[in-house]
Amino acid sequence: MPIHRNTSRRAQATKTAIYVATLTIGAALAALGSLAAHAQPRDDMREQRRDQQRLQAQDFGQREFNANCAACHGMDAKGRGPVAGFLTKNPPDLTTVAKRNGGVFPMDRLYRVVDGGDLPEGAQSAGPHGNREMPIWGRDYRVRDAEYFGDAPYNPDAMVRGRILALLEYLNRVQVK
Ligand code: HEC
Repeated sequence: MPIHRNTSRRAQATKTAIYVATLTIGAALAALGSLAAHAQPRDDMREQRRDQQRLQAQDFGQREFNANCAACHGMDAKGRGPVAGFLTKNPPDLTTVAKRNGGVFPMDRLYRVVDGGDLPEGAQSAGPHGNREMPIWGRDYRVRDAEYFGDAPYNPDAMVRGRILALLEYLNRVQVK
């Protein structure tokens, strides 16, 4: 029965071919799948790198000012922000601090005003802004950084100092002569 044997051999060969083809297609699909899986994080990384570049291109001090201070002090730091009208005290024009101080930018005093760390205990705990209208940024920044970093190790003092110094460096640059 050579014909029969032939047929069954051919059938066997066909089966093997189908089996191999299935394996190959399976492997190809699996490879494609893992490519697709890898493409996703690569896009995320590209997006992250773009965000990083955008952030680095910005003026850090100016960004902090616009985000945290402009509501009261105004985008131009001249004291006419949208919230200014709701305060009992007018937020001062921050571009004339040096002019009002004999041409010297009073770094030390302004640091203390912004940080608020040397306010008496009572003043610090009375309401979200203390018993003055200017928020206590040293404390606010500390709380926000703690939320942001969670369990990751970081230096809270360095973070707060960095932000306040960047803010003051920006304000120093916008002083009128
Ligand atoms: C809720 C409104 C408000 C916000 C927000 C605010 N300030 Fe003030 N700021 C004031 C008011 C009002 C004063 C006047 C002093 C007071 O509090 O009585 C003041 C005073 C100041 C002074 C003192 C100026 C001087 O000549 O003595 C500085 C410096 C200052 N703010 C910087 C900042 C910076 C920097 C930020 C952002 C981190 C900021 N402020 C956010 C309301 C605000």
